[in-house]
Amino acid sequence: MRRAITNAILFLMVAVIMTAFSVSAFTSTPGSTEFGEHDVEDFESENKCRMCHALAYTQWEGTMHYYAYVDPFYQAKANVASHETDGMLDEFCARCHTPIGVVSGEIPPADGSEMSDISKKGVHCDFCHVISGSTGVGNAPFVVTPGKMKWGPIEESRPAQHDAEYMELYTQAEYCGMCHLVVHPENGLVVDDTYTVWKNSQYAKDNITCQDCHMTEGITEFKANPGRAASTSPRRDHISTHAIVGANAFIPKILGEDRIAKMAVDRLQNAATMELVVPQTAGAGEEINIDVSITNTGAGHNLPTGVSEIREMWIETVVTDKEGIVIYSAGTLDTSRSIDSAKVIYNTVLGDSEGNPTENFWMADRILEDKRIGPKKTVTEQHTFVVPEDAAHPLKVDTWLNYRSASQELIDYLFDAGTYEVPVVRMNHASSTVYHPDTPLEERTESTPGFVGIVTAIAFIIAMYMLNGNKRRNQ
Ligand code: HEC
Ligand code: HEC
Ligand code: HEC
Ligand code: HEC
Ligand code: HEC
Repeated sequence: MRRAITNAILFLMVAVIMTAFSVSAFTSTPGSTEFGEHDVEDFESENKCRMCHALAYTQWEGTMHYYAYVDPFYQAKANVASHETDGMLDEFCARCHTPIGVVSGEIPPADGSEMSDISKKGVHCDFCHVISGSTGVGNAPFVVTPGKMKWGPIEESRPAQHDAEYMELYTQAEYCGMCHLVVHPENGLVVDDTYTVWKNSQYAKDNITCQDCHMTEGITEFKANPGRAASTSPRRDHISTHAIVGANAFIPKILGEDRIAKMAVDRLQNAATMELVVPQTAGAGEEINIDVSITNTGAGHNLPTGVSEIREMWIETVVTDKEGIVIYSAGTLDTSRSIDSAKVIYNTVLGDSEGNPTENFWMADRILEDKRIGPKKTVTEQHTFVVPEDAAHPLKVDTWLNYRSASQELIDYLFDAGTYEVPVVRMNHASSTVYHPDTPLEERTESTPGFVGIVTAIAFIIAMYMLNGNKRRNQ
């Protein structure tokens, strides 16, 4: 704690010196535009757009874009940042989390006391569609022209109600890359590299954009969603969906947005495949090696990405004997919901100027560890243990790929302990059996039903269905 304070002071001194030389750390970000030149009245309420774009509205409502500013997790972190830097970061943080609040000069102050309802609506319809250009990617380099003109992806849109113009940017990853690339405003450390990792991946080469996975019916590729952009407009082969969802099932859940939380779980469960390799047999006293591999098959960026110094992804492995006694485990939660002896936590660890780990990215000037899984990349971890003398064969090996939006410790620190329980999402599962070397081959059947079992089950279901059908007909 004391070290954090010393760092904050150091950091402030640097900032003050830089301001004195008028190269202020937090105002001359690469690619940033002039803020504070628009009136909040220039922006239109989302309720107005809703009248005609009801579907887009319903999809966007409740997403993390909708909650980007009021999100309690963001609020808590921004509060810490504001205190640690004496308000120097208030505008910087708000740029992406309440862009209207910043371009209309309602932020600072960071406490939101001067904010109108419209800027509290986070990343909003009438912000995203009045972006009239950009000066690059990263740290919010947008050019904003609020008014009658709405820019978008439709080439020949002629609404009577407002002006509309096609802009290629809306169909490109660079659009998202304006905010989904966060660079430390002072030392240039890239703290959220979602856009750049995508840009260097096979997905960019194949022109599979953020929009293809996050704004269509697909999760891992483009899937058309035919329909109408407005109640009165022509039917089109594809209308983008505005339920832009990532991996956050925690905050939506506590805000009562079960629909979004469920979509995030779906997305996580489509992100990675898992493979488990165990020896077929092992006797008492024998050492066993278990290989668990995960491949990032579904995400067009690292797994996890975004604020990956806060996110946690890990493998949980549990081996039980025939009696259900646990003979090996790694990556389970202990009573305080900390992860117990996982081999690896797949995320990033940021370091401050003294090389100490920090979860506060504004304090960071280096990356101490990067254990994320790149797009289409595979990692393998090995678990080793000795079969106890008294273990009852066969042994069952279960392994799960787990994800949570933050450690319980951080959430207990930011909010009062016991306020929120951070849910663990099971992204994938694999299991296998280890037999005693003396078990004859024909007895080495897995406990899962197997083919014969499945056929019997299906026959049973069909029989029940026919029986029910007969009953109905007889009534
Ligand atoms: C994060 C920025 C963002 C927000 C917030 C947002 N949009 Fe969009 N919108 C886009 C992008 C990007 C596209 C184009 C996507 C593509 O090319 O696949 C788009 C497309 C559209 C289109 C064109 C038709 C279509 O769906 O393809 C309309 C109309 C539209 N948005 C209206 C809205 C309304 C109304 C809201 C608020 C309820 C809204 N948007 C919120 C970024 C946004
Ligand atoms: C009175 C009805 C109405 C209202 C209100 C309305 N729109 Fe539209 N808008 C339309 C129609 C109709 C289209 C044409 C859709 C098409 O061509 O498929 C359209 C098209 C669009 C497009 C597509 C532009 C393009 O070229 O890709 C965007 C973006 C858009 N509207 C944003 C908004 C936003 C943001 C609001 C709220 C500030 C809003 N609209 C309010 C009727 C409306
Ligand atoms: C104006 C800045 C801005 C733009 C433009 C923007 N985003 Fe976001 N986005 C944010 C912020 C800020 C959050 C995080 C809000 C929070 O969690 O408090 C976010 C959250 C998300 C999430 C949810 C993350 C999670 O953990 O579940 C996804 C997915 C996402 N954005 C994708 C996109 C895509 C795709 C585009 C381009 C079509 C885009 N965003 C454009 C600022 C932006
Ligand atoms: C090939 C499909 C695909 C592409 C392309 C893609 N995403 Fe994702 N995205 C996913 C999947 C699947 C997840 C859920 C797993 C995860 O968290 O990475 C996800 C998660 C996210 C998250 C939440 C991250 C977290 O771990 O908290 C954000 C933010 C996001 N995407 C933004 C983007 C942006 C911005 C782009 C473009 C630069 C993009 N995505 C491109 C599939 C994709
Ligand atoms: C250039 C745009 C940008 C800036 C500047 C920015 N953020 Fe974010 N922030 C994002 C995006 C995009 C996400 C979503 C990434 C994800 O979900 O993993 C996000 C997510 C977060 C989250 C996670 C929220 C959740 O519900 O899980 C926190 C906390 C956060 N930001 C705090 C801050 C603080 C504090 C600052 C200032 C020191 C800041 N951000 C500055 C774009 C930005």
